[in-house]
Amino acid sequence: MNPEIALRIALPIGTTLDRFIQQKQEQFPFATGELSQLLRDIALASKIVNREINRAGLLDIVGSFGTQNVQGEEQKKLDVIANVRFIRALKNGREACGIISEEEEDLIDTGNYNGKYVIAIDPLDGSSNIDVNVSVGTIFSIYRRRSPIGTEVQAEDLLQRGVDQVAAGYIIYGSSTMLVYTTGYGVNGFTYEPSLGEYILSHTNIQMPEEGTIYSCNEGQYHEYFAADRAYIDYCREQKYKTRYIGSMVADFHRNLLKGGIFFYPATQSAKKGKLRLMHECNAMAFIAEQAGGKATDGKQRILEITPTHYHQRTPFYVGSKKMVEKVEQFIKQFAQE
Ligand code: AHG
Ligand code: MN
Ligand code: MN
Repeated sequence: MNPEIALRIALPIGTTLDRFIQQKQEQFPFATGELSQLLRDIALASKIVNREINRAGLLDIVGSFGTQNVQGEEQKKLDVIANVRFIRALKNGREACGIISEEEEDLIDTGNYNGKYVIAIDPLDGSSNIDVNVSVGTIFSIYRRRSPIGTEVQAEDLLQRGVDQVAAGYIIYGSSTMLVYTTGYGVNGFTYEPSLGEYILSHTNIQMPEEGTIYSCNEGQYHEYFAADRAYIDYCREQKYKTRYIGSMVADFHRNLLKGGIFFYPATQSAKKGKLRLMHECNAMAFIAEQAGGKATDGKQRILEITPTHYHQRTPFYVGSKKMVEKVEQFIKQFAQE
């Protein structure tokens, strides 16, 4: 046989996301499969969004939609498209009774009263990067509802602490598209194979290096930051660490997850609570970071232990390699005492 063909046949395709989810479900004798289906719905929607993103330049879907979201931020056309795609997939899937989205002010009642789960989602993270062909992402958190099954979804179903997430993940639409998720038993990454339309397991049990040499923050805000954060940046510079800031948290986080590093979006003089949303953005990343051996705090408290009081709550955010996050915490403690 032609050696090239022999080699091609010898290489298996690997484990698809569907099979992986199925195998994991079989390890839990009482699992009913709804969470598995929910993850599949998210994967399907992400494939559609991936297609739109890949062709954005050709389809006249770059640029602004001409509206603002609930936080007064400009909405991009792809923000709106991704929001609709994910919400539709989640409604049709019937496992989720409620959704909160970064792009929607209120809780979305899906009408699926028998659904056991609720979801918080940032349909498109880093959307300002879309016009210039830079990586963007989707972030999601899944919780078990608190109100009785068969009834209307309630605010208390969503306003849960990050420690109560049953699953969380992100999709990075980058030089390749990947889905990374955890259900609390480690973190696994799947790379999208566009010609098959499948996510294939490519990164098993991801562990974040304990220590790193990359720091990611918007350093242009240096003079807007508080003294402790400025001192930490000075420390990073003294150590000759590398600055890497894409401006899409998913992409910055993903790089740091694999290579070791810290991402932070601290409070600033004009935004005392920072910018990032606890429920749509930070909780999922914190869960993944911890599952991979990393750490996530608001500078003083573990992100996953913050009790949210409203859906669009913001928080300062420090996430990444354990020792790097501990270092910045030391600076924060030290400056609080002075
Ligand atoms: P989104 O596109 O969902 O609004 O999120 C953008 C976020 C995050 O991804 C990124 O790290 C940060 O905003 C960038 O903000 P700055 O431009 O202030 O650095
Ligand atoms: Mn975002
Ligand atoms: Mn967004």
